[in-house]
Amino acid sequence: MKFAKNILCIGAGYVGGPTMAVIAAKCPDCKVTVVDVNEERIRRWNSDDLPIFEPGLLDVVRSARGHNLFFSAAVAEGIQAADIIFVSVNTPTKTFGHGAGMASDLQYWEKTAHEIVAHSDRAKIIVEKSTLPVRTAEAMERILQENKKGIHFEVISNPEFLSEGSAVNDLLKPDRVLIGSRQTESGRKAAQEIVAIFAHWVAPEKIITANLWSAELSKLVANAFLAQRISSINAVSALCEKTDADVAEISFAVGSDQRIGPRFLNASIGFGGSCFKKDILNLVYICRSYGLNEVADYWQAVIAINEYQQERFVRKIIREMFNTIVGKKIVLLGFAFKANTGDTRESPGIHVARKLLDERARLVISDPQALENARKDLAGLDGSVEYEPDPYRAAVDAQGLAVITEWESFKKLDFKKIFASMRKPAFVFDGRNILDHQKLFNIGFNVYPLGKPSLTHFK
Ligand code: NAD
Ligand code: UGA
Repeated sequence: MKFAKNILCIGAGYVGGPTMAVIAAKCPDCKVTVVDVNEERIRRWNSDDLPIFEPGLLDVVRSARGHNLFFSAAVAEGIQAADIIFVSVNTPTKTFGHGAGMASDLQYWEKTAHEIVAHSDRAKIIVEKSTLPVRTAEAMERILQENKKGIHFEVISNPEFLSEGSAVNDLLKPDRVLIGSRQTESGRKAAQEIVAIFAHWVAPEKIITANLWSAELSKLVANAFLAQRISSINAVSALCEKTDADVAEISFAVGSDQRIGPRFLNASIGFGGSCFKKDILNLVYICRSYGLNEVADYWQAVIAINEYQQERFVRKIIREMFNTIVGKKIVLLGFAFKANTGDTRESPGIHVARKLLDERARLVISDPQALENARKDLAGLDGSVEYEPDPYRAAVDAQGLAVITEWESFKKLDFKKIFASMRKPAFVFDGRNILDHQKLFNIGFNVYPLGKPSLTHFK
C-alpha cells in the first residue's frame, strides 16, 4: 500500500511508543515507524508484553501494528525512508562535567541529529518531541545544516504533555497540541504539515501554533507550574500537621475558587517521575545561565520543598515508631511514582526505602506493577528488602505500613485481616491520604495521614 506520509519516531520509550501508536491509529494514510537502539525494547513492542504498562495501550498498538505501525531497530533505514522524523529520545539531567545535576544531558539527542544528517538524502521535517532546553532547535538546525548534501531540514518543536498512567487518554483527548516553528515561509509550511497529522482527531482550536522558542519553553514552564502546585500544597500540609487543620479540606476550599481549580492539589510524599525534577532543574540552570538568579531561586524552591516533604515522611515514621526501627518489618504499599504505571523513575519510594534501610528496618515492597523496576532501583543496597506482590502476605508480622503510591487496589484491601496478621502496636503512614483513616483507627491501627491530625491509641 502507498502511504501519504512516512513518519519516523526515534526513541521507543514512554513517549515515543504511545504517541506513535495513537498517530498510527488515527492516521491510517500514514506509515508510522518507531525505531530504537534498544533491541529488547523493540522486541517487546512487537509482542503483547509491551515494555511499558499503560492502560489501554495494548489495544491501540494491536489495532495498528503490522498495518501502518512498525517497531524496528533499523535506525538508518528508518531515517532514509522518512518524510517527517519525531525525535523522542531521553534527555535526562546531566550527571557529569559542567552543569552536572542541573543541565539536560543532550548527548542522545545530539547523536540522533548526526544520524539524521548521515542517513538523509532529501529534505525532511525534524520534530523535537523530547523535552529540551529553550533554543535547542537552534543547535539542532546548526548540526543539520552542516550537511554537505545541500538538504534542507526544517526543525519543529512539538512538546508532549501526556501523563503516564493516562497516556492513551491524554493523547486521544489532549487539552492542546503545541507546534512551534520558525516564523518563515518554510517554517510555517512545515508546521502546517504537523498540524495536519493531529487534525485527524484533534479539534482545530486545540492545535496551537507558536514560535519555536515559545513552544520549547512552554513545556518546561507547564511542568514547573504543575510541580509548583504540588509543592505549594505539600508545604501547607506541614503547617496543617502543626495546627490540626486538614490539608484535604484546604485543597477543596482553595481549589473551589475557579481561578485556582481543584486539580494537582493532592498533598503527597512528594512528586516523582522522570520529568518534573529534571525539567525544573533545567529551567533553573537556564535562568542562572542568563544571570537571572532570583528567578532561578524561585523555581529551585519547588524542588527543595519536594525533598523536604519526602524527608519529613521518613522522619515521621522513625519518630512515631519510638525513634527506632532497627529490625522492624515495614511494608511499602506501592513503589511506582504514581498509580497506573510501573515506572519508578524519581519515585519518592526510592528515597523512603533508602532512608528506612539506613535505619536498619526490614522492608517489604508491594506494588502491582513496579516490582521489576523496584528491584533494579534498590539493587546493591545493604539491608533486608523483600518484594511481594500480595499485600496480605507482605503484611504478615509487619509493624508498619507506609502508603507510597495511590493504587485503587490499596483502598479495597481487607485491613481487618491485615491488622490481625501484624505485630502490635501496628502503624499506618498514609503518604497519599487514600485510606479511610477513621476505619483503620477503629480496627486498632495507629494512623498517621499527611497534613491531618493523627489518630492514635496511645494515652
Ligand atoms: P525513555 O527513556 O522511556 O525513552 C527514550 C528512548 O530513546 C529509549 O528507549 C532509548 O533507548 C532511545 N534512544 C536514545 N538514544 C537513541 C538513539 N540515538 N537512537 C535511537 N533510540 C535512542 O524516555 P521517555 O520517558 O519516553 O522520554 C522521552 C522524552 O520525552 C524526554 O525528553 C522526556 O523529558 C519527554 N517527556 C516524557 C514524558 C513522560 O511521561 N515520560 C512526558 C512528556 C515528555
Ligand atoms: C507530568 C505532567 O503531568 C505531564 O503533563 C508531562 O507531560 C509529564 O510530566 C512529563 O513531561 O513527563 P507525569 O510525571 O507522568 O506527568 O505524572 P503526573 O500525573 O504529573 O504526576 C507527577 C507526580 O506528581 C507523581 O508522583 C504524582 O503522584 C504527583 N502528584 C500529582 C501529587 O503528588 N499530587 C497531585 O495532586 C498530583
